[in-house]
Amino acid sequence: MKWKDIFNLGIKMGQDSDIRNVDTPGSYTGSYSDCAIISGNENREVNTVYVAVDAGVAELLLVDELNRKGKKIDGVIIHHPTGPGGYNLTGVVDIQKYNWERFGVDPKAADRIYIKMVEEENIELSARNFLAVENAARFLDIPVICMHTAIDNIVQVFFENIFKKNNLGTVKDVCNEINSIYEVSKASKYGDGPYIIGDREARPGNIMVDMTGGIDPDPQIFSFLKKVGVNTLIAMHYGQDNVKAIKESKINAVISGHMASDSIGINRYCDRLESQGLDIVAGAGLYRHRRSGTNRSK
Ligand SMILES: [Fe+2]
Repeated sequence: MKWKDIFNLGIKMGQDSDIRNVDTPGSYTGSYSDCAIISGNENREVNTVYVAVDAGVAELLLVDELNRKGKKIDGVIIHHPTGPGGYNLTGVVDIQKYNWERFGVDPKAADRIYIKMVEEENIELSARNFLAVENAARFLDIPVICMHTAIDNIVQVFFENIFKKNNLGTVKDVCNEINSIYEVSKASKYGDGPYIIGDREARPGNIMVDMTGGIDPDPQIFSFLKKVGVNTLIAMHYGQDNVKAIKESKINAVISGHMASDSIGINRYCDRLESQGLDIVAGAGLYRHRRSGTNRSK
């Protein structure tokens, strides 16, 4: 596959799963600021990709070493943003704002919180060095892509579809349901299973999936979500401040796990790439699992 076709397929899958398009088909046709071709000519033919949740210079050196030992990896796909994808991460936070508003949060309040989040995150991001991977990729001549929010959109819709029909009795049942997903059960075996914040015996009520939009939300949002009737959140991870705010807001949350949840979206993308003839080498953090029925293995 051409490098640009691999990238464009990821973006297309992200658009198809974008909640704005799920609600109103065709309403969002743009790309995602945290998805980028970091290195490699876009017309380069690539046959085998190393795919990881995170990858830094060390993984690129690993790929180079694997190739020395006979593997023929000719591209790297990283989920978490790097290069311009890292610096421009806040360009996708508007998806979160859309999600809050679709649950009924007042647009003015949503706007205020959104602006604060973007401002604060931009200050953090501008202090970072997101250039190391691109630099190493150039020296090693390895094409690299980062594909972040497009993947997280797939995760968002995957979970939304599971809990669309909410007939589960308790928050604990929601957690068990999540733990039955292949990637999550795999992570559980490593001691990285899903967990509950709040009351495990409560009824799940109104469930909101919070998987996409680039960054952790501002802790202020949870009291607003409680006010508009959200009872249970499902998210891949939250920081300490958010966990505290969730408890204070008396919302319950089920945390599905970072590597497991990202793997769910990456696996969907890998399945499609495999169906187009690409070989996948599962790298750091990826619990590889096929759902498409293809039988190619690596
Ligand atoms: Fe992630």
